[in-house]
Amino acid sequence: MQRIFSGIQPSGVPHLGNYLGAVRNWVRLQQDHDCIYCVVDLHAITVWQDPKELANQTRGLAAALLACGIDPKASLLFHQSAVYAHLRLAWIFNCVARMGWLNRMTQFKEKAGKERENVSTGLFTYPNLMAADILAYHATRVPVGDDQRQHLELANDIAQKFNHDYGAEFFPAIEPMILGPAARVMSLRDGSKKMSKSDASGQSVINLNDDADTIALKIRRAKTDPEPLPSEPAGLEGRPEARNLVGIYAALTDTDHAAVLREHGGKGFGAFKQVLADLLVAHLSPIAAETQRLLADSATLDGILHDGARKAEAIAEPIVAEAERLVGFLKV
Ligand code: TYM
Repeated sequence: MQRIFSGIQPSGVPHLGNYLGAVRNWVRLQQDHDCIYCVVDLHAITVWQDPKELANQTRGLAAALLACGIDPKASLLFHQSAVYAHLRLAWIFNCVARMGWLNRMTQFKEKAGKERENVSTGLFTYPNLMAADILAYHATRVPVGDDQRQHLELANDIAQKFNHDYGAEFFPAIEPMILGPAARVMSLRDGSKKMSKSDASGQSVINLNDDADTIALKIRRAKTDPEPLPSEPAGLEGRPEARNLVGIYAALTDTDHAAVLREHGGKGFGAFKQVLADLLVAHLSPIAAETQRLLADSATLDGILHDGARKAEAIAEPIVAEAERLVGFLKV
């Protein structure tokens, strides 16, 4: 069985992009893969997180993942700071990855922007930790949204250079799994920007804990153009906002852009937004309710994370110990 690893940052409430681009696929992959899912709190502190909130955000995200259908009997679910193997391998990878490779990371350039001299060094070396997350388990498949593609290419470069430098075929190649018609969900206010937790306009993001009225309002106010929906995908060319809403609808109904347009082509956005909002509410309301239910029992939740961390550690420990041996660290 192929081993899957993926992660999500507890840096705020998870949103529709996280759900359709990643988490929903994680749930499905549980059936026929050995899956390890991680709430990556070490990654979250690459930008400032309020220490009074971080632990709650970590719990809240774990609860949301369970509510989406991650099954702790089928998969491992844990938080990153509980398994030191990630840090040990990340340090080795800090010494394998090259400055030039990291300098090319578009996500760093976007996040740092004009603040390049002021952002944390952790934000710069972030992709090395991400490579360590995956390779500490010898995972070979990584289901993510489209925005993580470049980071996974880098992880493969790091694995190859490690194998070459230390003369061992030790780390396997990683295959990104970028699945479905919503692998890049865009902002509801600007079809050229991805939906993101850090977007200042709350109106651009559907959070998994939004209530029915909020979802309906955000969809009603979503930017569109005055034309009706086209009847085939070619008609979405140059209409990023329309393409985004159709992609969300396609993902929720498990079809593709063409099928949605066969059904709804010719309709105005008023009518389409109504059905889309209803569909979103039907999908997300049960998740929000279940998240609240799980959060009310934090002892059970913490037990699941603790158990997941110990099992994760048992897998990662010998792999990272072998990497350290290859590097030449003294083991006494
Ligand atoms: P994060 O926390 O930003 O996002 C979690 C997952 O959601 C996907 N995603 C999206 N998909 C579609 N449309 C969007 N607008 C959208 N926004 C986010 C992301 O692609 C991701 O799959 N670096 C990672 C976390 C990470 C990780 C890992 C992932 C750490 N270590 C190892 C895989 C393997 C991140 O910041 O995801």
